[in-house]
Amino acid sequence: MRIDPPGPPVRALPGLLRKLAVDRLGMMRDAARLGDAVRVSMGPKKLYIFNRPDYAKHVLADNSANYHKGIGLVQARRVLGDGLLTSDGEVWRRQRRAVQPAFKPGRINQQASAVAEEAAKLVALLRGHEGGGPVDVLQEVTGLTLGVLGRTLLDSDVTAHDSLAHAFEEVQDQAMLEMVTQGMVPSWLPLPPQARFRRARRELYRVADLLVADRTARMADGEPGDDALSRIIAAAGRPGEAPDRVRRRLREELVTLLLAGHETTASTLGWTLHLIERHPEVRDAVRAEARAVLGDRVPDVDDLHRLTYTTMVVQEAMRLYPPVWVLPRVAQRRDEVGGYAVSAKADVLICPYIMHRNPSLWDAPERFDPGRFEPQLVATRPRYAYIPFGAGPRFCVGSNLGMMEAVFVTALVTRDLDLRTVPGHDAVAEPMLSLRMRGGLPMTVHPVS
Ligand code: HEM
Repeated sequence: MRIDPPGPPVRALPGLLRKLAVDRLGMMRDAARLGDAVRVSMGPKKLYIFNRPDYAKHVLADNSANYHKGIGLVQARRVLGDGLLTSDGEVWRRQRRAVQPAFKPGRINQQASAVAEEAAKLVALLRGHEGGGPVDVLQEVTGLTLGVLGRTLLDSDVTAHDSLAHAFEEVQDQAMLEMVTQGMVPSWLPLPPQARFRRARRELYRVADLLVADRTARMADGEPGDDALSRIIAAAGRPGEAPDRVRRRLREELVTLLLAGHETTASTLGWTLHLIERHPEVRDAVRAEARAVLGDRVPDVDDLHRLTYTTMVVQEAMRLYPPVWVLPRVAQRRDEVGGYAVSAKADVLICPYIMHRNPSLWDAPERFDPGRFEPQLVATRPRYAYIPFGAGPRFCVGSNLGMMEAVFVTALVTRDLDLRTVPGHDAVAEPMLSLRMRGGLPMTVHPVS
């Protein structure tokens, strides 16, 4: 028999909605206290939160065809349109097929030297701040991830467009505002956030048009390339399609790749470097490994498998602070998840942030302990207990590149520099489309003693 999951009493709903606006992680934690399956009913609207590995497996993998992209991502469609992250069904399948070859491990491995060069540039840039005032390390790693994305996937220099990171922040702020107000504030109202949103979107599309025009011209000059951008361009036109539509789709697909590929990796690096600073014994072990494996040189692709402890440190940082903290879906038809009834059109959330801290899956879950990712311990946990890159057919297409960047940068920065958090600064997680660090990551830079 299918039963409804437990949910908060009706009188608790106003408080819950208020929390959705000001403390989304707190709201998810409160909901998780009711159980691993929770139903929140707001009139005809139903929201289900599932936080068990087997439930996550059902929604994300086994019956994924029944679950389209949901809350938050729906709002992000105002910028990303039908790009790879937000599209569903046949449109998504076609796009994924078109770009997938650009992300194959073999091709990403060939990009290792470009990633290592960018990581070395970041170290040099941070070194320029040695002995000086605080530098926002999050902002610097965001610049790095955009640069890497440009070089490895777009065959373009995106660092020349320094408005990008800010424009992405603005459009996300608006997407989140729309999510927490549940669409109750119409988007045509001439409010300042709307104006900021439109300006930011115009800027993203302007840069996207420039990048597409440049890459198209180079393709016409006999430089076809196997990068993601040239694949998107080659697959863009359909017979009889109006040029305006093609241009719009290209913009949306490119902006999607830029957004999905840079903030997530920057967030991973921000949290990893923060946690390393807070745990000197981990910092010393990462440094020792980097010295032993790399000596004085920059990493190459073979080092990825040798930097095993550094990889575990990055994995543990993503457990505590998964950049994609929630995976929102909408059920297309009625379903049953672990014996619980899910109604058609209901919103469904799988929350890696909560599942990664579930005490029945993780010992002392709030503790930062990279040792959890020793292979023999990984083997004892359910596969879907840890899903920083999602799962099923929508599994992150850029996971290999993201991990390579995170591991190379963590190893080089920790080997060569001592980063110290500015006294009084607290790292607070801000759950936007990705798990940002509120106020950035101000640190001072010191030589390694
Ligand atoms: C450590 C870094 C990264 C993390 C933690 C991460 C995480 C994720 C997650 C959880 C999803 C699934 C979202 C869902 O199911 O709703 C996803 C999808 C995606 N990611 Fe990543 N990602 C990272 C790096 C990258 C990079 C470097 C790229 C390169 C462009 C990228 C591009 C994408 C795209 C295009 C999708 C949509 C795939 C699809 O739906 O077919 N990601 N990512």
